Amino acid sequence: PSPIILRNLAVPRFFGAAANTTFLYHDVNYTEVISTQFSIFTPENEMKWENIEPEQGIFDFSAPDEIVHFAESVDAKVRGHNFMWGNQLPAWVNTSLSATELDRALENHITTIMNHYRGKLYAWDVINEMISDNAPNETFKDNIWTQKFGEEAMPKALTYARAVDKQPKLYINDYGTEGINAKSDALYSVVSSFLKDGVAVDAIGFQCHFTLNQIPDTLARNLQRFADLGLDVAITELDINLDGPANATALAQQAQDYWTVVNACVQTNRCVSVTVWGVSDDHSWIPNGEVLPWNAEKQPKPAFYAIADAFEGK
Ligand code: G3I
Repeated sequence: PSPIILRNLAVPRFFGAAANTTFLYHDVNYTEVISTQFSIFTPENEMKWENIEPEQGIFDFSAPDEIVHFAESVDAKVRGHNFMWGNQLPAWVNTSLSATELDRALENHITTIMNHYRGKLYAWDVINEMISDNAPNETFKDNIWTQKFGEEAMPKALTYARAVDKQPKLYINDYGTEGINAKSDALYSVVSSFLKDGVAVDAIGFQCHFTLNQIPDTLARNLQRFADLGLDVAITELDINLDGPANATALAQQAQDYWTVVNACVQTNRCVSVTVWGVSDDHSWIPNGEVLPWNAEKQPKPAFYAIADAFEGK
């Protein structure tokens, strides 16, 4: 039988992975899988502020460029990740600047990076994890951006991004917003007001860091309500934590859970991509969760075949 290539089965959608330069070209089996199975990549850490602008005005494009060149070499797209987030910030951003200085630093960061990658990136996670976990009591997460700019934080970043480059899709990306709940309701009303006010936003990313057997049953309906606003939607960081031993029952349930998530995307016509957050279980941000579709030996797990089925409408 011909080998299963998920990126082909995903068409017209993209199938993606978080790519990591620690393993790319250093682990041959990783490189083999990542070179064949995916049509879109998100740099796992390489474009985050602390790595790409560690000192003010000093940009290091070496690692992110490696991913962009790799993606070009395998005819895959790239999602930039990310501009505005409360984590992985260098101290100079997180502590010492006045509001005016921080505003200029944000604009310079976005402008310099988007100019560097002009014509090369499919999308940007302009906003990452800015909605509060305490909705509806609080709408925005408490971090340096909201401390300095309040509710103007997200519009600032989106507006700066659109002003540099009209081409890439501008995303708001978050976790805990996958099902219909207080947090996704807060996101929905923020996004609705942005659309009414003409703030640039093209798409919503749903991270989907899930635990076994806990896929929200409102996932598909939730994707659809954001799509109905006229936006693209995407699954941006999918993984499913076994949270226990990797026996046959758990691996079968994990496969079912992957199917459920990919199927929800397939059922939503504006769902443009499914990205898994890593490739194989040995190179995940969750070291012992066996969260990914390939095992540590880079062999496909039941989840891999379930993803194939979901893309094929089976
Ligand atoms: O590179 C340094 C290395 O020099 C140092 O010796 C080592 C010691 O701890 O740390 C290394 O940095 C680590 C980095 O990953 C690269 O491996 C950081 O400690 C570690 O915190 C960092 O974790 C990343 C995490 O974001 C940080 O917030 C994960 O790899 C990455 O998968 C994860 O990704 C996030 C998304 O961006 C946003 N959504 C949630 C998702 C999972 O947390």
